[in-house]
Order: sequence, then structure tokens, then C-alpha cells
Amino acid sequence: MKILAIETSCDETSVAILNGDDVTHVTASQIDVHRITGGIVPEVAAREHVQVMIPIIKEIMQKTVLIPDDIDRIAVTSGPGLITSLMVGVETARTLAYSWNKPLFSINHIEGHIAANFIGNPDIEFPAVALVVSGGHTELLFVPKPGTYELIGATRDDAAGECFDKCARILGLDYPGGPEISKLAAKGDSTIHHLPSPMLDSDNSDFSFSGLKTAVLYFHRDNPDAKLEDVCASIENAIVNVLVAKTKKALKVHGAKSLLVGGGVAANSALRTELENLNANIYIPAPEFCTDNAAMIAAACRFHEQPTDLFSFKANPNWELTPR
Ligand SMILES: Nc1ncnc2c1ncn2[C@@H]1O[C@H](COP(=O)(O)OP(=O)(O)OP(=O)(O)O)[C@@H](O)[C@H]1O
Ligand SMILES: [Mg+2]
Repeated sequence: MKILAIETSCDETSVAILNGDDVTHVTASQIDVHRITGGIVPEVAAREHVQVMIPIIKEIMQKTVLIPDDIDRIAVTSGPGLITSLMVGVETARTLAYSWNKPLFSINHIEGHIAANFIGNPDIEFPAVALVVSGGHTELLFVPKPGTYELIGATRDDAAGECFDKCARILGLDYPGGPEISKLAAKGDSTIHHLPSPMLDSDNSDFSFSGLKTAVLYFHRDNPDAKLEDVCASIENAIVNVLVAKTKKALKVHGAKSLLVGGGVAANSALRTELENLNANIYIPAPEFCTDNAAMIAAACRFHEQPTDLFSFKANPNWELTPR
């Protein structure tokens, strides 16, 4: 089955064609544009998506040497995300599905982050636990079988990626902050400055990262000359510690055979190393499939049988995979 997928939920315009385990994707990043403002301006993101959308669809069809007749399904991210960005992908997919006469599948972005693990790994053992750590989400989910999700715990305020980005901003680092903190942390010592891992010892599986952000704000105000590498190592350590501890507990409580990790923060090498020491079959996508990409949307499309009604579906910026 050949699936053409489109992803525009935030600041990457991505199209992919998935054919079995054979994946081709073209992703146009807007990072350089948003670096100027130190974050995403939604209208600017939408305009950037509009500019590159048709050229990258043409590019992927040329790259794969496919014609519209060869495509079996069209999949698109319809939420959660920025409404202005989502609408560009949704309307492009609707138009393509109509004019090429293909079934259209509306896909949840968070399901995509989890499904990225199925690219090249068709034999994942269940039940599984999924850890989604991205710019907007930090969630632990129980996955009894492919395509079925139950929420175990989630952040009560900021997401882990958001915390990385905001701490980086406090420290005057470049955008996006996660990779910047990670790079400096690799050269630092996390034992010199203590920063809190909020909710590390709580009885539940929820997370909270806004307290860490505030702690970093006050620490930096009071210790402006502290070595950045050491501060970054402490921030990374505080985030990774709590993610790993709660994931370990969830694996045990749910008797999970596999751990499926997804989202941009899954590209963090300290987190990857710590998770790999846990007692389960660990799946973490290659870094290019951790951050937003359309290949993961095509992979999630394979969990679904029923196409979406072409005319009634809409972008839904608040579409949660497992509402609380
Ligand atoms: N190596 C890294 N270490 C830590 N964080 C990272 C790393 N690489 C990327 N990130 C973080 O990942 C986040 C982006 O991930 P992703 O693209 O999945 O988020 P999003 O799509 O904006 O949010 P969501 O998927 O919740 O809608 C950013 O916060 C970025 O700082
Ligand atoms: Mg994402």
C-alpha cells in the first residue's frame, strides 16, 4: 500500500510516501525564519507552508517516480497543532484526495509520533507503553494493541520540549533550545548545581515542568556567571530524571513488553541512553523521525481502516488523542 502523507501542524512542511518499509520524505523546516522572532508566529508559519507545499509534493512524486494513479491513500495531520498551519495541510490533502479520487485519512499528530516507531519495525510486541515528549506534549500512554491508547499520565503545565526551549531562552541560547541545551550539557557536570525534578516522587504518573523553568530563571538571575555547560547539564538531568522514573514505573505497572518513544525531545541523547537501560524492548525513532515529519503520519494511517468523510472533516487544533 502506497500512502502519501502531509504534515503541517507546526513549523515543518513535510510530505512522505510510505510503501511497506520503504519511506521517502521531503521536509522543509522553517527554523531559520522563526529564529528571528525566537519562537513561532502562527501567521508567518502558515505563509511559509503555503509557499513550499506544492513544490515539495511535486518533488516527492519525482523522487519516487510515482504518478497519482499509484497512490492508494492520502493521510494528513488534522490536529493537534496551530490552526493556521494545520489548515494548509488539511486543505491541500482534501484537494488532492478529491482531484485524484483517493480515500483520505485524518490523522492525529500524537498518534503519528508514536507510529514513527513502526517504520521498519513491524513486529513490535504488545502490550506497550508510549512516552510522547515533544514541544507541546508530555504524555505516558498504555497501548494494549496498535491504534488503541489509554492515558496514564501527562504534564499539568509545560511540556518537556517547551521547558527546554524556555530555559534556553532564559540563558540567552539559540532557538530551538532543546538541541542547544543538549549540546552544552554534553560538556558540563550535572552535579555542581542542583535543579528540581518536579513531581519526581509523586504517587501519580503526571509531570510538571513550569517549576523547573522558574527555578532556572531565579538561578540565572542569582548566578549569572555560572558555567553554562554545567547549568545545561543540570537542566537536562532534571528533565531526563523524571521522564525516566515515571516511564520505568508505567512499564512495570502495565506489564509492558515494549516502550515506544516519540516526539522531538526523544532526539535527546541523554534521554535515549537512560531509556535504553530500562527493562523492555525500547523503540526510539531515528532523530529525523522524532521531530515533526510526514512519514510518521503515513505510518499511523496504517492503523486505520475507515477513510474520513472528505467534505465534513476539519482541522482541529485541540484534538487530544486520549482526552483526560
Ligand atoms: N536533542 C534535543 N534535546 C532536547 N529537546 C529537543 C532535542 N531536539 C529537539 N528537541 C525539542 O523538541 C521539540 C520539538 O519537537 P516536536 O517537533 O515533536 O514538537 P511539536 O511538534 O512542536 O509539538 P507537538 O508534537 O506536541 O505538537 C522542541 O521543544 C525542541 O527543543
Ligand atoms: Mg510534533
